[in-house]
Amino acid sequence: PLLDYYGAQSKLFTMPGVGHVLTIFNQLCAELDARKHDIQSVMHETRRFAPSEAFVVAAAVDAERLQALHRHAAEDHVGFWAAQARTHLTWQRMFDHALDDSRAPHYQWFSGGLINASYNCLDRHLDTRGEQVAITFETDDAQVIRYTYAELHRQVCQLGNALRSLGIGKGDRVVLYLPMGPQAVIAMQACARIGAVHSAVFGGFSADSLKDRIEDAGARLVITADAAPRGGKRVDLKGAVDKALSNGGCASVERVLVYQRMDGCPMHPQRDLRWQDLVPSQPTHCEPEWVDAGHPLFLLYTSGSTGKPKGVQHSTGGYLLGATVTMQWVFDLKPGDVFWCTADVGWITGHSYVAYGPLANGIEQVMFEGVPTYPDGERFWRMIAAHKVSIFYTAPTAIRALMRLGDELPARHDLSSLRLLGTVGEPINPEAWLWYHRVIGGGRCPIVDTWWQTETGAMMIAPVPGAMPIKPGSCTRPLPGICIDIVDEDGVPVTQIGRGGLLVVTKPWPSMLSTIWGNDARYAETYFGRFGNSVYVAGDGAQRDEDGDVWILGRIDDVLNVSGHRLGTMEVESALAAHPRVAEAAVVGRPHDIKGEAILAFVVVRGEREHAIASGLQRELCGWVAEQLGAIARPDEVRLVDGLPKTRSGKIMRRLLRSIGAGQHLTQDTSTLENPAILDQLRG
Ligand code: PRX
Repeated sequence: PLLDYYGAQSKLFTMPGVGHVLTIFNQLCAELDARKHDIQSVMHETRRFAPSEAFVVAAAVDAERLQALHRHAAEDHVGFWAAQARTHLTWQRMFDHALDDSRAPHYQWFSGGLINASYNCLDRHLDTRGEQVAITFETDDAQVIRYTYAELHRQVCQLGNALRSLGIGKGDRVVLYLPMGPQAVIAMQACARIGAVHSAVFGGFSADSLKDRIEDAGARLVITADAAPRGGKRVDLKGAVDKALSNGGCASVERVLVYQRMDGCPMHPQRDLRWQDLVPSQPTHCEPEWVDAGHPLFLLYTSGSTGKPKGVQHSTGGYLLGATVTMQWVFDLKPGDVFWCTADVGWITGHSYVAYGPLANGIEQVMFEGVPTYPDGERFWRMIAAHKVSIFYTAPTAIRALMRLGDELPARHDLSSLRLLGTVGEPINPEAWLWYHRVIGGGRCPIVDTWWQTETGAMMIAPVPGAMPIKPGSCTRPLPGICIDIVDEDGVPVTQIGRGGLLVVTKPWPSMLSTIWGNDARYAETYFGRFGNSVYVAGDGAQRDEDGDVWILGRIDDVLNVSGHRLGTMEVESALAAHPRVAEAAVVGRPHDIKGEAILAFVVVRGEREHAIASGLQRELCGWVAEQLGAIARPDEVRLVDGLPKTRSGKIMRRLLRSIGAGQHLTQDTSTLENPAILDQLRG
């Protein structure tokens, strides 16, 4: 119904070499069809919320200014970004060319320019706001530690010197497996300072996942902590590093630097060093390494629809510009703001809007080590009141979980410091949006629903809150200099209102990924393989409403979004298949009230199914996946079945499994199933 499926299919069949396109296209049709119900329920939400007059009057970017930015970008896309880069970044040597597209789709922004990200985040503020708080850190057990810009600068310089003393320099990869806290930011900034390339791995990932990432990046150094307190529990980090490096694994790693956050850990004599032993005695001056704008600032591994996670590589100049200006536009930054982004530094949001964006803009931010429900469900609200947070940025999954606990909890705290709220990572349902707006924002705070990805580096589609009305569930309009379109299977723009299509970006933008680490071909194929070198395919479905506002419909590939975390179905399937009692597995997402999506696995076992059920294999497999990949990948449910539904050509019928998982009435043809009795087993 959303695409002219058969017409397009016959057209495609007449073209040479279309097998691949057709496969993707078939998946897209099935996905969009399956999501039609969700789309329609969301699209019934027509309420609009205009910013208050007070907000508009004080806005950093008002409607007139926003229009001027858009006009400039429309008239001269490259010139617009060049002007932003000159104004908002400090360059050691100014770039010669704003955009070199001679190697498209490997776009090179600001070539000839020399820059250092750490200098831009720290040094350039020292004269004017050295004594201003940069980070207010609250630990799991509610201790508060403050870092001024001068103090942060000092510690970054000392760690930079320590890394240099270990022989780490420009271009070397350093894996960070650190808890949420200032040391993670200091480590990222120190790497940037000396031109080393950091690759942060979220502390919730397993030793095996860590090992894959270390090996793919060829890291020389791992920076970790003994352990981290989280929600009153001790999360063992160093143990996972030891396991990843055991039995000859991660051969590129020479040293492990351990920040002692808790009670210590066993140390490997030749390999491990304590941060506290090495760093504090270092000199406090560390000359920044001036690097080309295109020099990799970091790698961040993220899931795709196939194979292992890919190392998304970001450049220094273009990335930093995106993180810096989007904060000004979307978060309406002003002197005196206290910004709190709750994302962990192991995700892209924690890079752009914790480690780089807030510091590049010289504002004060809050960092939090713990979880929103410890010691109780008032933690976030208590912290907002205590630290007078003015801008709060979190994920819909957290909002939904806290909404469940009732209005009384936030009502016990003075949330009047808040003036702007934000969300990221997954679609927000109108109910959660309205609760966030009314109960947390007191009806006065605009909500910026920001769409972007690990690959885009910075926010792409989001409201500029003082310049436009907002709607629950829509991320509204592309930001200045970001060219978005929604196209059909032929790449033709969808003009019909309310009709879904593929979300694409039609012009390069500075904070776009440079490549996939070590795999240029996969980069070109994944993002530009569909419609040519100038059209980036995001992997999301989207549609526009009658006002031209964008509504994100979710992934159109086999990528799951569990609590705002991206996971490939293939990764979970391979983890399951590695279990000795598993013959075959298929994994799908199913709607979940809090997580957005939950993991449902269908598993064909080796040997007797009844016996496997009696021995509790389902539970064992849930634990197995968590151990293989990390707790975030633990399936909600494993169903043991005698066979998986397949097409005549042997492909697993994922759409059928998704419908079964969602408890929907089946519209698919099941006559091709080898054994129709399996349907009952699949239904659980
Ligand atoms: O499906 C979209 C969803 O999250 C995906 C990107 O995931 P990741 O690279 O982990 O980055 C998440 C944080 C930037 C997208 O392809 N997504 C992200 N933001 C939104 C969203 N879906 C709907 N609305 C959003 N605001």
